[in-house]
Amino acid sequence: MTTTDPSLDISGNDVRGFLLMHDQIRAVVPEAARHVRALRPGDRRAARALVRWWAVFSRALHHHHVAEDTELWPLVLATAPELAAEVRRLEAEHAPLDADLAAVTTALERIGTLAEPGFRPAAEELAAALSRLDTYLRRHLASEEELVLPVMRHRIGAADWTALEKALADQGHGRDTSVLLPMFLAYSQPDRVAFLRDRLPAPVLVLHDLVLGPRYRRLLKKLPAATR
Ligand SMILES: [Fe+2]
Ligand SMILES: [Fe+2]
Repeated sequence: MTTTDPSLDISGNDVRGFLLMHDQIRAVVPEAARHVRALRPGDRRAARALVRWWAVFSRALHHHHVAEDTELWPLVLATAPELAAEVRRLEAEHAPLDADLAAVTTALERIGTLAEPGFRPAAEELAAALSRLDTYLRRHLASEEELVLPVMRHRIGAADWTALEKALADQGHGRDTSVLLPMFLAYSQPDRVAFLRDRLPAPVLVLHDLVLGPRYRRLLKKLPAATR
């Protein structure tokens, strides 16, 4: 039996940890566009919260790209050399995506300082840029999942997969973890939330549930037209 969405196949190596970041991308980028459209000129508090929320996501996505380029692609290429051209294309897409992410951060910081009449066109332009980025990222993710997930699940040996999973999880996020952890638990598909919660040490889970989760929800409430 074939599954139409390759990210929903649960056979072979467990790739849910890898897919956590894909869930964030699919959720956060369109949500950022909605927040930008809802931002009002002069609302510095909302603009600052939006910059902080976006910057944490943006750095995490950059880490994801680096992890794919340095850890994942070499193993995929060694396992499935026939995918070389496609893997090179996916790798080449990361640099322009990272440039787009940084440009969004810069534009967000600038918009927070603008008043009318400059504010509205700048906000519209940024929201449109985020929508284009969303389309591009969705294509990148779909291509990645279609091409690479079958190799990750079924062709990479269990020992190599365990080492790769550890290397991918070890991409340090430093202080961003206090925002990223509740973000991941808030936006991921239920089976991936279960995966993450299963692997978190009990004290970290308690810290999330009592402190980081509520703090993250307060950050979301500061965003323009908070949707959660
Ligand atoms: Fe990628
Ligand atoms: Fe990816």
